[in-house]
Amino acid sequence: MLEVKDIHAYYGLSHILFGVSLSVKQGEAVCLLGRNGVGKTTTLKSIMGLNPPKSGRVWFKGQDITALPTRRRVSLGIRYVPDTRRIFADLTVRENMEVAASGIKQAGEWTIDKVFDLFPVLKSFSDRRGGHLSGGEQQMLAIGRALLGTPQLLILDEPTEGLAPLIVEELEEQILMLKAAGISILLAEQNLKSALKISNRCYVVEKGQVRFQGSVEELRQNAEVRAKYLLV
Ligand SMILES: Nc1ncnc2c1ncn2[C@@H]1O[C@H](COP(=O)(O)OP(=O)(O)O)[C@@H](O)[C@H]1O
Ligand SMILES: [Mg+2]
Repeated sequence: MLEVKDIHAYYGLSHILFGVSLSVKQGEAVCLLGRNGVGKTTTLKSIMGLNPPKSGRVWFKGQDITALPTRRRVSLGIRYVPDTRRIFADLTVRENMEVAASGIKQAGEWTIDKVFDLFPVLKSFSDRRGGHLSGGEQQMLAIGRALLGTPQLLILDEPTEGLAPLIVEELEEQILMLKAAGISILLAEQNLKSALKISNRCYVVEKGQVRFQGSVEELRQNAEVRAKYLLV
């Protein structure tokens, strides 16, 4: 469903991605793993059109989307939850959802009520301001907001970062439920445990290049790759 082929990305003159290629198949959860600063976020931004690659191509469901503006990618069903979450601190949970819903052209299967069913805590705090939520609740709001309409590919940038272990477990279960509901997932993670739990396949990135790709099982068995690219 998503095919990224040989992308090179820059910030100004700094060359950050050196020919990254990856794919996500329908119904799959795929993880980009790697230490801080290796280019995971830059890869996700390239896929969303937020930092378009200088060369290389991106296809979604057979369509070349390399040059499409971000909002068109969102209408095609690609949804992105940045590591910064970017929820409105002064708006309530429900208002945050309503603002996001108003930006979606066609109503879809994922309504505010359906999101509240997946994240009951958001329903019980629907009148609470975004800024008064815990980190985990804010992450759930950011994901819930991204789901509105008809999501097909959900891109999550380090969703579990900085969250308490119990909340991480809850979030992992919720992401697995989204996968079970047929939404494909592309995840950037430094948390190997979370990545292995959620994903089918992984790409390990270092210095803007993919150094390893394989199934979760292959990564589990490959202590050398884990030691070289993942352990701190
Ligand atoms: N806005 C930016 N301007 C310039 N350099 C950046 C910017 N964002 C990230 N970088 C640099 O690009 C490299 C890759 O960053 P990033 O994709 O955020 O890595 P990761 O998500 O794997 O931690 C790092 O060296 C980082 O310092
Ligand atoms: Mg990052």
